[in-house]
Amino acid sequence: MNPRHFISLLDLSSDEFRALINRAIELKNKRDPNFQPLKGQVLAMIFEKSSTRTRISFETGMTHFGGSAIFLSPRDTQLGRGEPIKDSAKVISSMVDGIMLRTNNHETVTDFAKHSSVPVINGLTDILHPCQLLADMQTYFEHRGDIQGKTVTWIGDGNNMCHSYINAAVRLDFKLNIASPEAYLPNNEMVKSGGERIQLFNQALDAAKDSDLIVTDVWASMGQEEEQKQREIAFKNYQVNQSIIDTAHDDALFMHCLPAHRGEEVTAEVIDGKQSVIYNEAENRLHAQKALLELLMCT
Ligand code: CP
Ligand code: NVA
Repeated sequence: MNPRHFISLLDLSSDEFRALINRAIELKNKRDPNFQPLKGQVLAMIFEKSSTRTRISFETGMTHFGGSAIFLSPRDTQLGRGEPIKDSAKVISSMVDGIMLRTNNHETVTDFAKHSSVPVINGLTDILHPCQLLADMQTYFEHRGDIQGKTVTWIGDGNNMCHSYINAAVRLDFKLNIASPEAYLPNNEMVKSGGERIQLFNQALDAAKDSDLIVTDVWASMGQEEEQKQREIAFKNYQVNQSIIDTAHDDALFMHCLPAHRGEEVTAEVIDGKQSVIYNEAENRLHAQKALLELLMCT
């Protein structure tokens, strides 16, 4: 039987996405130490890029569920020395029960999944960051209920997080306003896939009007450090500040996947302010991914 992978949020149906959110909330509230559905199972975690939240949440989740996780940096495996993805995927998947990858190129994850005999989870690529969206959506549901019909505003880079917000809008049926500089818009095909739900704006303030959730991310993602200066110029009118928050609905939430740069994409006043739920959002990586591991790895 082919394993079930999680490369994109579109790998879940709308019902499965909602069920996963509800299960994550249930796991968070119960915290039953005797519930160990992955006893003896092993998750390999391959990181080509740095991580705090993704690594710790997957490793802790596996431990809570009675299993274990192996952390592998590019220095630790032959993959980092050019061993073919096919060989690596076949060999690693013959020894473990699940594999999580964070890679520079999206194709590395899709190629790996093609040859893996166990579930493969996308822990971030240059194109998508679906695990983060499980946590973001759980956080919204916990604070405000179902997000269907609500308006979410993305301000900043049309990057991996923005793309995953587009996929979430499709699956959970919310409106997504995106304000990005012309040269940093999200992938056009993905924008089109969202249909009328997705609207592009030039001005961040216009995008934030009547919004229920404001989201941003760093101006230079991992691997783009050399573009930092040029991006600071391009994004200077795309900072989430108090005027943006004041333009949104009074009960709008603020989210950021973290790590954040206070004074760049968001002011300290906003990220440390009362509408910010960034620490709940980060903690929910653990609960949402436990629900995901259960879905993919419990047979
Ligand atoms: N948000 C997120 O994925 O954080 P890490 O890079 O620390 O894993
Ligand atoms: N867009 C950011 C997200 C980090 C979690 C990056 O890719 O570096």
